[in-house]
Amino acid sequence: MDDRLTRFEKLRQIVAQCRACSLHTSRPHFVFGEGSLQARVMFIGEAPGKDEQRTGRPFVGRSGKLLRQMIAAIEIPETDYFIANIIKDRPPNNRPPEKEEIETCVKFLKKQIEIIEPKILVFLGKTAVKGLCPNLAHLSVEILRQQSKNLGMVSYMDIPVVVTYHPSALLRTPYRKVGAAEDFRFLESAYREMAK
Ligand code: URA
Repeated sequence: MDDRLTRFEKLRQIVAQCRACSLHTSRPHFVFGEGSLQARVMFIGEAPGKDEQRTGRPFVGRSGKLLRQMIAAIEIPETDYFIANIIKDRPPNNRPPEKEEIETCVKFLKKQIEIIEPKILVFLGKTAVKGLCPNLAHLSVEILRQQSKNLGMVSYMDIPVVVTYHPSALLRTPYRKVGAAEDFRFLESAYREMAK
């Protein structure tokens, strides 16, 4: 555990010094991610928004509130999940991150996954797919949601992935909440199965 913490904090320092793309100009705060270093479930979003940039914490705005409610509803304890993003800095006006930005930044998330060694990854929307499974990025979130319910059919480094909507998409198009609830029920059963 100490080793994980040491590696994690070293990585945080590296990110703090990163100037590889122009997004670092949005600091003082980058958003490294938060949660347990022993988490078995890792939620992967897109990039920090205004509230996240202000606080340095992931998913603390409106979409974050919704995400955290959905996680609480399936009773994954805080000690067993970690929340991170593909991109560590806020893109101007919350525009979607560009391909080069994703390619430059995702290596930090990949290191975080290597350190934490989660048992399930949850991709919140398409940017997570683009970052970690770019070979699947031509498929729609709808198709990937269905495929990922065959647990292991969508994976990153042999870690099974559950694909669902980004919570901002749920705020924009509430009818998708029905599908998202189904995805989280599936996640709950996969999580319980793993805990046996
Ligand atoms: N949206 C994201 O993708 N990540 C955050 O941290 C907040 C909003």
